Amino acid sequence: MTKPPIGGNRTGRKLGQKVKKGKLKASSRRWLERHINDPYVQRAKLEGYRARAAFKLLEIDEKHQILKGARRIIDLGAAPGSWSQIAAKVTNSSDEDVRVAAIDFLEMAPLPGVKILQLDFLDPEAPARLMEAVGGTPDLVISDMAAPTTGHQKTDHLRTMHLCEVAAYFAVEVLAEGGHFLAKTFQGGTERELLTMLKQNFRQVLHVKPASSRAESVEMFLLAKGFKGRKQMPETEAEA
Ligand SMILES: C[S@@+](CC[C@H](N)C(=O)[O-])C[C@H]1O[C@@H](n2cnc3c(N)ncnc32)[C@H](O)[C@@H]1O
Repeated sequence: MTKPPIGGNRTGRKLGQKVKKGKLKASSRRWLERHINDPYVQRAKLEGYRARAAFKLLEIDEKHQILKGARRIIDLGAAPGSWSQIAAKVTNSSDEDVRVAAIDFLEMAPLPGVKILQLDFLDPEAPARLMEAVGGTPDLVISDMAAPTTGHQKTDHLRTMHLCEVAAYFAVEVLAEGGHFLAKTFQGGTERELLTMLKQNFRQVLHVKPASSRAESVEMFLLAKGFKGRKQMPETEAEA
């Protein structure tokens, strides 16, 4: 079971710390204070995860069992790599038999068993490169992609929603039958058209918000479970 975050100082650092007023802007100081006092940040450090985001995936999995039995996983927007760490573990991936492909336009430190592509997922070459990297049909596509913030909330929102949509169409193109798709989205942001497409292709589609996703954040996750498989085209159509 995913334990609730530690509330004390098992990392050797106390919660409730303040950052001294100095050269930092007030907004940066507030961010830093929240970060160092965040129990999930402390727990990630303690358990060897590269990011607190690890707990979002673990909490979602605890409730919806999407990792169990996964043999190949594609991780979109993977840096710094905590979801890839989990993916490599559950698939038993190794450098000799790679079962996880990760993509991010940011540099990501190597991880055993993970083929990392430093590339924009929206690059036309990305889908083929990911499939080549994962070495077989994936049964799980996970996306924590968030567009870099511009400061204009509506623009940021639309860009992240676009990433979610492109990821969903990619998942439908590549997933094995019975596979799952998980992607970051925003509250109220998922387009009706995208939901309809997912409902046609998956047995269950739902929005989830794990406890480790900050309550004040509009972040949510879109989870589509049980891919129905790509429909075979009738022979005459396929030949045309
Ligand atoms: C919240 S972080 C992911 C954290 C990650 N799940 C983890 O566990 O460490 C979102 C990532 O999405 C990446 N990203 C955003 N847009 C992208 C794109 N178009 N192509 C590739 N990566 C993208 C960002 O660079 C960022 O590293």
